[in-house]
Amino acid sequence: MKLIDGKFIAGEIKKEIAKETAEIIDKGLNPPHLVAIIVGDDPASQTYVASKEKACKEVGFTSSVYKHSEKITENELLEIIDFINKDDEIHGLIVQLPLPKHISPDRVIQRINPLKDVDGFHPENIGKMVLSLPTYLPATPYGIIQLFERYNIETEGKNCVILGRSNIVGTPMGILMTRKANPGNSTVTICHSRTKNLKEICSKADILIAAIGSPEFVTADMVKKDAVVIDVGIHRVKSNKTKSGFKLKGDVKFDEVSKKCSFITPVPGGVGPMTIVSLLRNTLEAAKKLAY
Ligand code: GUN
Repeated sequence: MKLIDGKFIAGEIKKEIAKETAEIIDKGLNPPHLVAIIVGDDPASQTYVASKEKACKEVGFTSSVYKHSEKITENELLEIIDFINKDDEIHGLIVQLPLPKHISPDRVIQRINPLKDVDGFHPENIGKMVLSLPTYLPATPYGIIQLFERYNIETEGKNCVILGRSNIVGTPMGILMTRKANPGNSTVTICHSRTKNLKEICSKADILIAAIGSPEFVTADMVKKDAVVIDVGIHRVKSNKTKSGFKLKGDVKFDEVSKKCSFITPVPGGVGPMTIVSLLRNTLEAAKKLAY
């Protein structure tokens, strides 16, 4: 079994982005500027946004976080987005999900200028991705594609099973894996809560991508020998083995699955860091398109 070291690869990509950013600044131009909007105080969202902000600083980007109380109305949020859309000093905008129940994520995402939509969630950008036109790819699937590329993992003609059909991970991942491209050209099955024979389908996967949101859901008996296993999950679960009383777990039961597969991403240090650098890459592209 070979560990896919997302943390290391993300570090290498960050160096590439930092070098390009330094060259931009040397030319007397402003560095890329990412704005993250966060509504309410969901602890996981606070952590994700703080990591994104830290990563921006590491590569020399400007980053701003707009924090709003969960009492903000949908209209107020849409007006803030309009304001950011018009601001030439801001190149990328993300609205951290989930949003409070009274705000429609669809209306919010559709209000973002597609050229600033560095999450790649706007219908125009999703449409371009489906048609293989140049666009911003959603960060987590884009990060996983880069891991396949950098580890020379063959995807052509492989059976790829994806657990989860979210707009953020499962659905775009399926599109990217079926595209006529390398990485891509896989035969994809997307499984979800209504799927029958889940175990049987998983056990035929050459590539298994778990984004189901349930800690240690994937067990060794669901995995084919020598499969490539990508774990998108991240869960803080109680543990009596750590000082903090918590441990991070993925969607995959790492200890048993790692003994059976050819490649696996750890949690933490696998997919997570790749998601963040993909967002940085998209922000750099946005700045190039809008300002340089
Ligand atoms: N919530 C969980 N993942 C993401 C992401 O990639 N982008 C945004 N905006 N919200 C998220």
